[in-house]
Amino acid sequence: MKWLIPAAGLALAGCNVPSEFLQRMEAQAKYEYYETSEFWADGRSMRTPPEGTVPRERPVGNPGMTTGRVNGTLVSGIPLELNREVLELGQKKYNIVCSQCHGRLGDGNSVVAENMALRLPPSLLEVANKPDGHFYVAINEGYGVMPSFSGELNTQERWAVVAYVRALQRARNSQAGGQPLPQENR
Ligand code: HEC
Repeated sequence: MKWLIPAAGLALAGCNVPSEFLQRMEAQAKYEYYETSEFWADGRSMRTPPEGTVPRERPVGNPGMTTGRVNGTLVSGIPLELNREVLELGQKKYNIVCSQCHGRLGDGNSVVAENMALRLPPSLLEVANKPDGHFYVAINEGYGVMPSFSGELNTQERWAVVAYVRALQRARNSQAGGQPLPQENR
């Protein structure tokens, strides 16, 4: 059977492959939107989804939790019970996924930042007045030239990172004596 593979390669390289062998997927038999159908008794090709099913793209559960927005507005508040465990998870994930660009302290001082020509990773301490949803959405969807990190972090980990970024902001934007600076505004 080994000879079949080079033979197929040669056939394709020749470009004279009869169209029945190289049929494009878009040329397959299919229904277009709103087309009539003789197959179904009601004559419609578009079917009603079975009861109880949801489209893959529709976030399930609490949209504020999964998307960081409710009706288009960024959420304020982290939808997790905040405790030491969550903050430690956030710290671990922040240090692995974010710190190489935004710095271990969130201040934008990192080796990557020093050497990045395009756009420097900003200090996360200076955007402390933005709502929690802003940070979640940046992680989940990406922000400008920064890609999404939703593949690296699950929903809980993303919120844990947001909580840790908040902790960095709180720690670094506070004056000695624990008085938060006005810009912290939380
Ligand atoms: C590869 C480098 C890189 C990594 C890794 C990275 N970022 Fe970013 N981040 C950037 C850059 C660059 C920008 C600015 C993008 C722009 O303005 O186009 C940015 C922007 C942001 C912003 C928006 C800041 C603002 O002005 O409001 C947030 C929030 C943020 N990043 C959070 C994170 C978090 C949290 C992580 C880890 C999950 C992370 N980033 C990982 C490079 C990075």
